[in-house]
Amino acid sequence: MSSRGTFGSKLAIVLATAGSAVGLGNIWRFPFMTGQNGGAAFILVYFACILLLGIPGMVNEFLVGRHAQTNAARAYGQIGGRGWRTIGYLGILTSTIILGFYAVVAGWCLQYLYASIAGQLDGDPAYVVSYFQTFSSDPLKPCLWGVGFVLITHVVVAQGVEKGIERASKLLMPLLLILLLILVVASCMLPGAGKGIEFLLKPDFSKVSSGVFLEALGQAFFSLSLGTACLCTYASYFKRDTNLLRSATQIALLDSAIAILAGLMIFPAAFSVGVQPDSGPSLIFITLPNVFREAFSAMPVVGYVISILFYALLVFAALTSTISMHEIGTAFFHEELRLPRQRAAWILTVVCSVIAVFCSLSVGAYSNLQVFGMSLLDFCDFLTAQLMLPAGAFLTSILMGWFANRQLVKDEFTNGGTLRETFFKAWFFSIRYIVPLCIVLIFLHQFGVL
Ligand code: PHE
Repeated sequence: MSSRGTFGSKLAIVLATAGSAVGLGNIWRFPFMTGQNGGAAFILVYFACILLLGIPGMVNEFLVGRHAQTNAARAYGQIGGRGWRTIGYLGILTSTIILGFYAVVAGWCLQYLYASIAGQLDGDPAYVVSYFQTFSSDPLKPCLWGVGFVLITHVVVAQGVEKGIERASKLLMPLLLILLLILVVASCMLPGAGKGIEFLLKPDFSKVSSGVFLEALGQAFFSLSLGTACLCTYASYFKRDTNLLRSATQIALLDSAIAILAGLMIFPAAFSVGVQPDSGPSLIFITLPNVFREAFSAMPVVGYVISILFYALLVFAALTSTISMHEIGTAFFHEELRLPRQRAAWILTVVCSVIAVFCSLSVGAYSNLQVFGMSLLDFCDFLTAQLMLPAGAFLTSILMGWFANRQLVKDEFTNGGTLRETFFKAWFFSIRYIVPLCIVLIFLHQFGVL
């Protein structure tokens, strides 16, 4: 087996892992899920999921990965015995499916980057909607952008961990944050924006449907990259003295802040120009071009530059996430099948490209590509975010809370006794009882048993 790298500095660890967490989940998925689930009430449930289940779950995965310093499947096996490798296999499968459909949306972002450079997105709100519909129903273009995105990911991953991932994250994450802040201000100043702010901040519990709990749970896990073994794989490159609880908390807070900022960027503008908040996956694509045009109407050049910068950063945010999904499978095939890294990466690339093509066609030219009444893209999203991620997190809690050697877990959590034990007790209680129980209750509720 080849020697494994570690992330260079503490900042790089947090940034790279945050790079995995922050992506289309925050900027594309969070707004449209919030819009479909009635706004502020959904956000409250979402925050509860992040705090009660997300942060303890992240620490859980970090522990497994950093302890074992190997790929996800082997890491779980080392902690619990051969049978527990299943969690790693499940994670690899989940992240492969996610990469497949995620690349489609990332491909849309690439198209929008190109279109904003070419000045094609300039028009009234009706034109912006029809632009999205025309583009996404083309049989070829969105497939090519999607596969193109998988290939870009491939190039970075095949280069190796430190070089590719670290360098990209350091610079671009802070830049994205600054640009988001500018766009939030711009969006909130549009006429009629107040309704959108109210939608985000004033809970309307009459809009809370029974599905809201599982959807909020799925969104929280998706956004934190939790339950895919992705955090476990990244943690395998962490240093021994990294404070895992602190890192998890920092990343979860940053991730949630970016999601809220994305909401504050989208909804005021959507209400201002009359885009329906529950428009689904197209929401950000039919809202944002209006922000760039209307908010900067007095200075069109600024609007033009900002739109290009925004789509470019969105593409990079998506890329730091797809890299992490790709890395899970690549590390596995590289170490388990003893394939050269390049070849291991190709396996992932080919499989994900095929999934991406079918998902893309299912929301465009071949809308009869449906599973259980959903487009293939929506189905893959539902299957992974709402079923496979919670299942992965649930099993990890059971392993770490009930089956793993408790001394080992404690040593790993406290970095060999150098960190406080109080936090260990609270965390251990939560992964033993709270996390598994809540996930089971939410499942039972969703499937009508409760
Ligand atoms: N968390 C990423 C996002 O918000 C998506 C992701 C899910 C990445 C699962 C890795 C694993 O965009």
